[in-house]
Amino acid sequence: MGKELFSQDALVSWEELLLETGRILEGDNAELEAKWMIEEVSGITQLCDYKEQAKPIQLKRLNRLIERRVAGEPLQYVLGRWQFRELDLFVDDRVLIPRPETEILVGYALEECKSKKSDLNRTRPLNVADLGCGSGAIGLSIAREVQEVSVWCTDASQGAIAVTRANLAGLGMAGQKVSISQGSWFEALPEEMLGKFDIVISNPPYISDSEELPLEVSEWEPSSSLRSGPLGTEDLSFLLNNSIEWLSAEGLLILELAPMQADVMVEEAKNLKYREVKLRHDLTGRNRVLMAKKPL
Ligand SMILES: C[S@@+](CC[C@H](N)C(=O)[O-])C[C@H]1O[C@@H](n2cnc3c(N)ncnc32)[C@H](O)[C@@H]1O
Repeated sequence: MGKELFSQDALVSWEELLLETGRILEGDNAELEAKWMIEEVSGITQLCDYKEQAKPIQLKRLNRLIERRVAGEPLQYVLGRWQFRELDLFVDDRVLIPRPETEILVGYALEECKSKKSDLNRTRPLNVADLGCGSGAIGLSIAREVQEVSVWCTDASQGAIAVTRANLAGLGMAGQKVSISQGSWFEALPEEMLGKFDIVISNPPYISDSEELPLEVSEWEPSSSLRSGPLGTEDLSFLLNNSIEWLSAEGLLILELAPMQADVMVEEAKNLKYREVKLRHDLTGRNRVLMAKKPL
């Protein structure tokens, strides 16, 4: 890589390594990324611990992380984990890196879970399906943050299912509320759940085949997580058309989409006779979430 990395015999403190790692990484976020890498390798979180010396095996690991990052791999894959709401998720290149806008999507779903629970005098937990679960970010967050819920996490990708399972293992007792299965969209759900989901939620692939993406995305994240087809709206349309029979009478479909797709998808939802079709926005005020109640 043309840059001098750290010798494993070096007697060097984490403080020095932090500075040097930031210098090697370069770029706007170099200091912060260096701090995250050092924390990952050392396990230290307190400022005073930065005076301690790194062990050879830790230097070896740090070298490897730096090499991967300098080669262009996204920081989240290099660290092998990423924070999503209350979860510390394991992530690798089999899954999309969970995004901040998806944390907002989950926030809207949680509001709905709350109002659904108070709406009806419930004798059973809410049923939620997270379709295209990837790392499990959406479904596992709902299992973690909603008490009375049963969550089905599904994905077509075997790799994604393995990552969701790994993250489920870190969920503790809340993990008992989650079922995970592989298959294309609704094919992965058990037939006895037809008409029983209070919420179907998905962040499906919604980028068109021709749209250009930053290299860090297109070269590292799975294309099957990103691209939907020539229009970009193919999976969104599929989910709109096929959720109806899986939703309960007052069931809600919640979809993440790109702002430029919002109007056309609202139109499509209305044509399908969904009720109370609404758009919600992300932190930058752009339409990002479509919510629609099952047609009568
Ligand atoms: C944009 S990623 C979302 C991942 C995760 N839910 C999140 O929000 O971070 C879309 C996911 O849909 C999955 N997917 C793509 N086509 C699918 C299909 N036909 N059936 C089920 N899942 C599919 C991909 O494997 C990927 O994990």
